[in-house]
Amino acid sequence: MSIAVCPGSFDPITLGHVDIVERAAQLFDRVVVGVATNSSKTPLLSVVQRLDLARDALKHVPNVEVAEVPGLLVDFCAAHGAQVIVKGIRGSNDFDGETPMALMNQHLSGVETVFMHARPQYAHIASSLVKDVMRFGGDVADMVPPKVHNAMVVSMGEKNMFLGKEQS
Ligand code: PNS
Repeated sequence: MSIAVCPGSFDPITLGHVDIVERAAQLFDRVVVGVATNSSKTPLLSVVQRLDLARDALKHVPNVEVAEVPGLLVDFCAAHGAQVIVKGIRGSNDFDGETPMALMNQHLSGVETVFMHARPQYAHIASSLVKDVMRFGGDVADMVPPKVHNAMVVSMGEKNMFLGKEQS
């Protein structure tokens, strides 16, 4: 059985992430979405929120499951029997950022990383940009699953993060 891991911070999961996972699910028997910690980022949403939102956004894909990555990604891959990591890339910046991680994971355990190009309609959608646009009152409703949008409005409201007009 071919098993792939799609890892990420998913803070929050976007329609671009959903598209990558859906496409990976057509290539592999099973896809495990790994909600992980990126040491260089401070998440807006808790890991429980990110897991719940990812599960809800992907519940229509039967061969996909969502789980927390409690430590190293390579250990998570081994625990799930995954031979491959699938990561979406939107352009050369992503490629440059992802390459050291792919090489490190390959060094640590031999697991291979496959890069999947984002579809053009999602190539500008990044979780960080989505959060920034929201903070200043911009509309991101067509970039994230509906439940994500609601969770972000609540979370940003609680943390007094809105700098422009608050969303409803
Ligand atoms: O969505 P992101 O932030 O680009 O994903 C990066 C992530 C979370 C996949 C990466 O930081 C990661 O693998 N974290 C788990 C801990 C780990 O294995 N770190 C070493 C990576 S080479």
